[in-house]
Amino acid sequence: MRIARMHLNESPFKPSRLVSSHVSKYVDKLNLYHVEELEAEFLKKLSSYTKLPRESISLYPGSSEALIALVRFCRSRALKLVSIWPSFHGFVEFANMEGVGVDFVYLTPESFELDLAKLTAVGSRSKALYLANPNNPTSNILFQDKDTLDFLSSRFGLVIVDEAYFEFSGYTAADGVLDYDNLVVVRTFSKAFSLAGARVGYVLTNQELSEEIGRYTALFSVSTTSLASALGALEDIDYMMEIVKKVIELREELKRDVEKLGLYALNSKTNFLFIKTPTLGRVLARSLSEKGIKIRAYNDRLIENYIRVSVSSREDNLRFTEALAALLRERSTVG
Ligand SMILES: Cc1ncc(COP(=O)(O)O)c(C=O)c1O
Repeated sequence: MRIARMHLNESPFKPSRLVSSHVSKYVDKLNLYHVEELEAEFLKKLSSYTKLPRESISLYPGSSEALIALVRFCRSRALKLVSIWPSFHGFVEFANMEGVGVDFVYLTPESFELDLAKLTAVGSRSKALYLANPNNPTSNILFQDKDTLDFLSSRFGLVIVDEAYFEFSGYTAADGVLDYDNLVVVRTFSKAFSLAGARVGYVLTNQELSEEIGRYTALFSVSTTSLASALGALEDIDYMMEIVKKVIELREELKRDVEKLGLYALNSKTNFLFIKTPTLGRVLARSLSEKGIKIRAYNDRLIENYIRVSVSSREDNLRFTEALAALLRERSTVG
C-alpha cells in the first residue's frame, strides 16, 4: 500500500532541478570539511533573499538545530523559556533534551490567537519567548504588525520568532532584527523550498547575537551537499514561488472539501490544515493510518479534538477526504 505522507508538513513537490546540478558540482570537494566559496556564494544569495547583511545570518543543519542552539544560549544566559501553546512541540522536546523546562502562555480558546493580557502578565526581561508565526499546529498567523513586535520585544529578554512557514504567509518579522537587540528569527529550507531531507535552516538576528548563538553548535555542521542543495533551491526562486502558489491552491481546495463534510478548519497561512473533529483526533488518525494515510493527532487535552493534515498532491488530498468521509459516515451509523 502506498503511504500518503500528510503528517510532517513536507512539500509534495520535488526540489528544483538546479539542486542536483549544484550537488554534482561540489561532489569532488567532499574531501574537504568546508568549501569557502560555496558558503560565500550561498550567504550572498541568502542575504539578498532576506534583505539582511550576511553578518546577520547564521546557518544550521535544519531549523531544529538552530532551536537547540537557541535553547543552549538561553540556558547560558539564565533566560527562562516561555512558549505560546499550542505550538511547535519540537521546541519543548529540544528544551527538555537539554534539561531545560518550558512554561506556556496559552492562546485564546478555539480561535488560537495571541492573548496579549496573558503575555503581559508573564513577560519579563529574564525570559525568552518562543513563538511560531504562522503557528504550528494551529496554522494561523499570530501577528503581522510592528506594534505586536514592539510589545513582545519590550516585555521579554529575547523573542524567538520561528518562521518555518514564512513563504506561505508572506509576513516576516525579519526587518526588525536590526532594530531590536533581542529579536531572533528562525527559518528553514524544509518547507517552501522542498528540501526537508537536506537539513538546512538559518537564524536572522543582529551580528552580536548571531555570533553568540552560533557558539552552541558544531563547526561545519551544514554539509557541503546540503549547502549546495540550498544554493540550487535559492537560485530558483521562481520555482519555489510556483510551488507555494500550488500548495496554497491545493490547501484551499482541501479546506473546501473538509468543510463540505461539515468540519471546521482554521484559516491557514501554512502548508497544512488544522481541523476540528467530532471525535478524538487520535482515533481518526489511527483509522486513517490503517488505510495508509498518515496525519497528526494530539494527546494534549486542549487539542485532542483536532487533527493536523499536510497539504499533499491532489490525489492524496482526495484520498484523505474520501477516507475521512467514510469514517464519519461509519461513526454516524454506529452512533
Ligand atoms: C514551526 C516549525 N519549526 C521548526 C520545524 C523544524 O524544521 P526543520 O528542522 O526541518 O528545519 C518545523 C517542522 O515541521 C516546524 O513546523
